[in-house]
Amino acid sequence: MDSFVFSYPTRVYFGEGSAEKAFKAELGQMGRKVMLAYGGGSVKRNGVYGQIKTWLSDAGKTVVDFPGIMPNPTYAKAQEGARLARAEHVDFILAVGGGSVIDCCKVISAQAMLDEDIYEMEYGARRFPAQGIPMGAVVTASGTGAEMNAGAVITHEEKRWKGAIFGTAASFAVLDPSYTLSLPMKQVISGAFDTLSHCMETYLGTPREPNLSDEMNEAVMRSVIAHIRTLLRDPQNLEARSELMWASAMAENGLLKLGKTTDFQAHQIEHQLGAYTDCNHGQGLAVIHPALYRHICPDAPKQFARLAREVWHVDGETDEAAALAGVDALARFIREIGLPTTLGEMGITDERTLRAVADTCNLTAGCCRQLTRDEVFEILKECR
Ligand code: NZQ
Ligand code: ZN
Repeated sequence: MDSFVFSYPTRVYFGEGSAEKAFKAELGQMGRKVMLAYGGGSVKRNGVYGQIKTWLSDAGKTVVDFPGIMPNPTYAKAQEGARLARAEHVDFILAVGGGSVIDCCKVISAQAMLDEDIYEMEYGARRFPAQGIPMGAVVTASGTGAEMNAGAVITHEEKRWKGAIFGTAASFAVLDPSYTLSLPMKQVISGAFDTLSHCMETYLGTPREPNLSDEMNEAVMRSVIAHIRTLLRDPQNLEARSELMWASAMAENGLLKLGKTTDFQAHQIEHQLGAYTDCNHGQGLAVIHPALYRHICPDAPKQFARLAREVWHVDGETDEAAALAGVDALARFIREIGLPTTLGEMGITDERTLRAVADTCNLTAGCCRQLTRDEVFEILKECR
């Protein structure tokens, strides 16, 4: 296991009814003016917005609404939010939504306190923001784990790029599984697959000698797989929703990454696919993973075989055979839970788009082997 320093900035209020507890404890630290940021309106329809607005108003806060944060939030939207936060002298930002709303707010928070463009600062000068307007997150769609880290995933439309911008981590997060009851099942499943992807991409990082982070990771993966199946049989099952919500946070709160170097190559490809097609994140991952893993599993057969045995409960006569059996089991699971298995099913058919994605996605050091751009293109063509 590599050396590490671990500390955590986010207080988590977990469970049904936890929002009220959270607001009672946190309202005093929110200042006078609160930006209430949300997406396209789901939080108004399911009553979460109304409840929060009442708590804020009863506590004497002035509320500045910032609606309309879209799935795959854009850089322009984050800039619009930062301008509003500055103009209104907002003391606190409350993100109410899924990963997209939370990510957009992380950047709003940091950009509002900067006199320079945050993208240019991070990717040009390689400097990162040291402060931001404090923020909190109320999670209404789980999967990304965005509420427990400072990294935002943003689409910069002008640059045809989707990737990480580091902003502000939430000082507190509310995870109430009952808030996800109104989420369309398709999104519940694609979110849960995103969690599984985070786990797999972490697990396949280095070092690969047996370690506690990987053993915890195996437990999280088995839990995600089991509870996706439970929810598909019984969509209202709050226990399964709770487990998926906590697994989502666990996969991205750093615990599973302790002592490991991760690589997230599937994510790098999917994000750039998102930049070109605005596709759903979890669905894109579901299509890319099996094809990518067929390419790289011969380079780390032991770890892929362990994944097969411990998580998918399949085996083979050799590690190489077990590794492939595990990738087949993953592909079967994706079909079983109704996620797309081809890019065609997602409406992505243009070969030039695939070439552009391959030519512009971030190539990582490689959890198993560094891919070439041509190989990424091959993988994407196999996904058609
Ligand atoms: O906009 P509204 O009307 O709220 O509708 C949203 C949106 O259409 C809807 N929704 C959310 N909660 C709901 C609800 N509908 C009914 N009831 C509810 N309770 O769900 C739709 C999708 O929301 P979105 O926030 O886009 O989904 P998700 O949480 O999957 O976030 C995806 C974004 O997060 C990024 C992805 O790339 C993508 O941009 N990621 C962020 C990560 C991070 N910060 O750590 C890591 C991930 O790997 C990922 O890249
Ligand atoms: Zn993800």
